[in-house]
Amino acid sequence: MGSCRNLVFLSHILINVVGLIVSQPDFLFIDCGEGFGNYTTNSTYQTNLDTLLFSLSSNINSYGFYNTSSGENPDRVNVIVLCRGDVDLDTCRGCISNATSKITQDCPNSKEAIGWYNLCMARYSNESIDGQVKTSPMAK
Ligand SMILES: *[C@@H]1O[C@H](CO)[C@@H](O)[C@H](O)[C@H]1NC(C)=O
Ligand SMILES: *[C@@H]1O[C@H](CO)[C@@H](O)[C@H](O)[C@H]1NC(C)=O
Ligand SMILES: *[C@@H]1O[C@H](CO)[C@@H](O)[C@H](O)[C@H]1NC(C)=O
Ligand SMILES: *[C@@H]1O[C@H](CO)[C@@H](O)[C@H](O)[C@H]1NC(C)=O
Ligand SMILES: *[C@@H]1O[C@H](CO)[C@@H](O)[C@H](O)[C@H]1NC(C)=O
Repeated sequence: MGSCRNLVFLSHILINVVGLIVSQPDFLFIDCGEGFGNYTTNSTYQTNLDTLLFSLSSNINSYGFYNTSSGENPDRVNVIVLCRGDVDLDTCRGCISNATSKITQDCPNSKEAIGWYNLCMARYSNESIDGQVKTSPMAK
């Protein structure tokens, strides 16, 4: 367990370091869910979030959609990622990879956030986000 956490933490550092060198494009729209609360650095919530986001881009299916969850309440994290319908799988993975790195940079410690690129979006929350896939970025 301890070494697993260290690994997650190290990969977090690695992502941040790489992120500084090859920075991701800015989101067209980003909402850091102010008012939905913050998680503390090094908390179980952060570990769950980092683990999910790190594994996401390789798990995207051919529909360019993936939703997943990790952890138990109150540290449960739900993530949904989605690519535009006309985007091929490789581009989709690249876009999601950018989005999942960028979202934690733009919204450090946010319990909930959503970020949109032209080609894809990523959203995570401690609340269930089933059935909210079609919500427009501007709708709260
Ligand atoms: C999500 O986090 C917010 C803010 O900390 C809290 O009020 C809410 O109860 C949490 N929801 C769940 C399902 O744990
Ligand atoms: C969460 O963090 C942000 C930025 O540090 C701060 O402005 C906000 O008041 C915090 N929210 C809560 C509920 O603590
Ligand atoms: C988070 O954990 C790392 C490694 O255990 C430690 O170096 C760092 O100071 C911690 N940060 C906070 C804010 O607790
Ligand atoms: C993914 O979404 C489907 C349909 O909305 C839902 O039935 C399923 O439980 C979700 N899976 C996870 C791991 O959240
Ligand atoms: C991801 O970010 C890199 C670095 O900024 C950029 O070259 C690439 O085009 C982005 N990928 C997508 C699919 O937007």
